[in-house]
Amino acid sequence: MFNLDWLKPPAPAPNSESLLQENETLKKQLKELLTLDETGFFIELDSLLNAILKKALILCKAESSFIALTGKDPSELDVRVSNLILEEKMIKIRENYKKEYARWKETESDILTIDDFILLPLVRRHKILGVVGLKLNSDAPDNVCEILPVLGYKAAASLESAILYDRMFKRLLVLSNVFIFGREIIANLDLQTLVDKFLSTAIDGTDSEIASIYLFRDKLEYPYFSRVFSKEDPNIIFSVESVTGYTDLIKLVRNEGQPKTINSFENSEFYSEINKIQGIKIKDSVVIPLKPRETMLGVIQVCNKKGNSSYSYEDMDLLKILGSQIAFVIQNAELFNNLEKAYLDTLSALTNAIDAKDSYTRGHSDRVTELSVRLAKEAKVENTDLEKIRLGGMLHDIGKIGIPENILNKPGRLDDHEFEVIKSHPVMGVSILGGVEFLQNVVPIIKHHHERYDGNGYPDKLKGGDIPFLARIVSIADTYDAMTTNRPYRKALTIEESLKEIERCKGTQFDPELADLFVKMIQSDGH
Ligand SMILES: [Fe+2]
Repeated sequence: MFNLDWLKPPAPAPNSESLLQENETLKKQLKELLTLDETGFFIELDSLLNAILKKALILCKAESSFIALTGKDPSELDVRVSNLILEEKMIKIRENYKKEYARWKETESDILTIDDFILLPLVRRHKILGVVGLKLNSDAPDNVCEILPVLGYKAAASLESAILYDRMFKRLLVLSNVFIFGREIIANLDLQTLVDKFLSTAIDGTDSEIASIYLFRDKLEYPYFSRVFSKEDPNIIFSVESVTGYTDLIKLVRNEGQPKTINSFENSEFYSEINKIQGIKIKDSVVIPLKPRETMLGVIQVCNKKGNSSYSYEDMDLLKILGSQIAFVIQNAELFNNLEKAYLDTLSALTNAIDAKDSYTRGHSDRVTELSVRLAKEAKVENTDLEKIRLGGMLHDIGKIGIPENILNKPGRLDDHEFEVIKSHPVMGVSILGGVEFLQNVVPIIKHHHERYDGNGYPDKLKGGDIPFLARIVSIADTYDAMTTNRPYRKALTIEESLKEIERCKGTQFDPELADLFVKMIQSDGH
């Protein structure tokens, strides 16, 4: 026990009046201590801390005071409430407490003295949960050293349950976020939105400043996708496509496939990476691999735990749960993209096969696609429409797969019946692609690329603005390419002759505005 005599006022000579007064003080103290159990009802942590400090002040009449919690490191103080203490003083007390703590471990004494403060450790199961700091004045009761430990003992019990409650409550919040996140996955949000929601949930759940994700593909050295997210500074939301942010720590977790926690970058082998995330100083970090069924999809990282505490196994657990959810989403998105790509590759192979059926039209679909995209850009269509026109151009003649080769390659003029067969190819194209959901918005291009502006085209004799705009674009590109290539029944026209023909047919076969744009485009590009 430390000698605290110097804190006490000189003892007055005992007489009946002072004995009576002492008795009165003892009664009040006893009352306060008995009602201390009420603090157990302040299950909310901050209310409890305030209540403990208030009791300590009533019992000891301190002129300045504070209450602090300890984190994972019990020698670190996280000051939660303080009264009349300067910042510099507080820093000094925290530093000295760090030194005193080692000595406390040996003795587990009831009270510590640091400078002109007495510190009351709140101890449960040989662990300091928090500390009450008091600077006593001359009014302090004589028996302060007997009373404070009783307060400390009772307060520690309440504090333990409040900390537990606080942790459980936070965990519950996190789990509810995980649940909401799971529901959003089912709601089919796009991958980018889901990634941001995921990073935001990771930040909330682990009390971090920054969360980031890096996705890998087998043989690619650098991440093909990465995103860093911070709630405090919205400017830190960015995607990194290059090597930025792909640090040695991320590389290590990718290679080893094991989670890694760094509690202090300054004292770690990753010291040089301290400023690598957009110049933000990284204090500590947890990195988790996204590795469902032995496939390394990527890694997730959280940095800079808020407050005075360090990353715990609970943070790692939460990231693992969240990680398994986002891995599921990524894997499915990848599978979906792969499926889509495989399907398009097959279709592309099919159109090449159609082009190959007729040696004169080899490369026709590719050229129509290229011309259509150029004209669409001239007409300033939206990006999503550009994608449609790309697919529409590539697949516009897919229905020709059902047309007999002898009709397709007939050198002379087609008779009426043969012409009717040829005219069926747009509708046949629709029936080929009708069941493919992701190509549904391309189907109108395929169906109507032979409509004429004056309503004399096929299959539906649509007129003017009733013809889908993108189909009107493909129609011009298709005709122009047919004119400028050799056919079984005629030689190719020159560029000038073909453009003249386009001019001549504007308003009858072609949309006049698009025809003008097309002619101008070819003339200025020279092809
Ligand atoms: Fe066609």
